[in-house]
Amino acid sequence: MVLTVNKKNIYSKTKLMDLTSWVILPFLLGSVGIYSLFKVLQKLRSSAYIQDAVVVLTGATSGLGKECAKVFYKAGARLVLCGRSEERLNDLINELSQMRKGSTQLHKPHMVIFDLSDVDTVTSAAKEILHLVGNVDILINNAGISYRGTILNTKVSVDRMLMDTNYFGPVALTKALLPSMIKNKRGHIVAISSVQGKISIPFRSAYSASKHATQAFFDCLRAEMAPHDITVTLINPGYIQTNLSLNAVTDDGSKYGVMDKTTAEGRTAEEVAKIVLSAVEERSKEVLVAGLVPTLAVYLRALAPKIFFSLMAARAKKERKMKDT
Ligand SMILES: NC(=O)c1ccc[n+]([C@@H]2O[C@H](COP(=O)([O-])OP(=O)(O)OC[C@H]3O[C@@H](n4cnc5c(N)ncnc54)[C@H](OP(=O)(O)O)[C@@H]3O)[C@@H](O)[C@H]2O)c1
Repeated sequence: MVLTVNKKNIYSKTKLMDLTSWVILPFLLGSVGIYSLFKVLQKLRSSAYIQDAVVVLTGATSGLGKECAKVFYKAGARLVLCGRSEERLNDLINELSQMRKGSTQLHKPHMVIFDLSDVDTVTSAAKEILHLVGNVDILINNAGISYRGTILNTKVSVDRMLMDTNYFGPVALTKALLPSMIKNKRGHIVAISSVQGKISIPFRSAYSASKHATQAFFDCLRAEMAPHDITVTLINPGYIQTNLSLNAVTDDGSKYGVMDKTTAEGRTAEEVAKIVLSAVEERSKEVLVAGLVPTLAVYLRALAPKIFFSLMAARAKKERKMKDT
């Protein structure tokens, strides 16, 4: 009796081993192999997208823009670095040239100096860019300025300045470069917006409004450019460790000059720059780069707006109290 049971066990074990060695194992190994091959091909396709591509980057002198310059440069892009300070752009080009030593795949960057808040200057700068490089493959609208203040005390000239820099500047640059992209049948427009392009938080009205406008414009652009195969990527980051709050303006247009705790505790600019690079490589349409609370807030605004409005009112009350004490 015992012998019969053992025989049965041995028989079924052998059958199981046969099944494992002839069916399951080859299937698993095959799947892993196909997946790895797919990943390698995907990586090659992504790298090929950036290698030798002409990438125009605004706000390259500081923070996220500076880190984007480094990651796109390392990936082999032909950079056109834009900013207001020739000295800082030169410093960055010198820094990048240190990485170039011995590499044949990295290209010497160009620089174009202009102020984004003046539409006429932006249009002339776009002509200069096209004259320098012929065609633009990828435009990264990164430059921007932030704001702190109450709506009651803020001069309309400040609201206008924020809109000029964060909205009309990128819009003008995009419009000036689009026709050549369409003609060339290749183009990718990136806009660095913000979580505040999705939700408005108190005492940031001008900034939030400019980023909401950015979101709306580039969403329309994505749809309108689909027949031309031009990709539009919106990046909506939460706080990043940059000089954004230090450079922010207040209700009378003067410099805020404070490194906010939230900004200091944000993601590093290098980390976000790598996310921007991946989003471009993967032709993502939109990326929210935020933690759990801001992500929930974005969904709450859409799904349960009344709760969101109460929370923002409570936040405004708390911040006002803190200012008064
Ligand atoms: N830091 C954050 O927490 C955060 C969060 C979400 C989104 N963002 C967005 O990320 C982008 C980059 O900002 P950042 O955080 O890197 O701040 P940043 O360190 O202050 O850099 C801002 C960049 O924009 C440029 N800029 C400002 N006004 C300009 C103008 N009128 N004309 C041309 N360039 C101008 C600055 O040039 P100058 O050196 O000449 O001043 C600088 O290169 C912005 O669009 C910002 O809204 C930032």
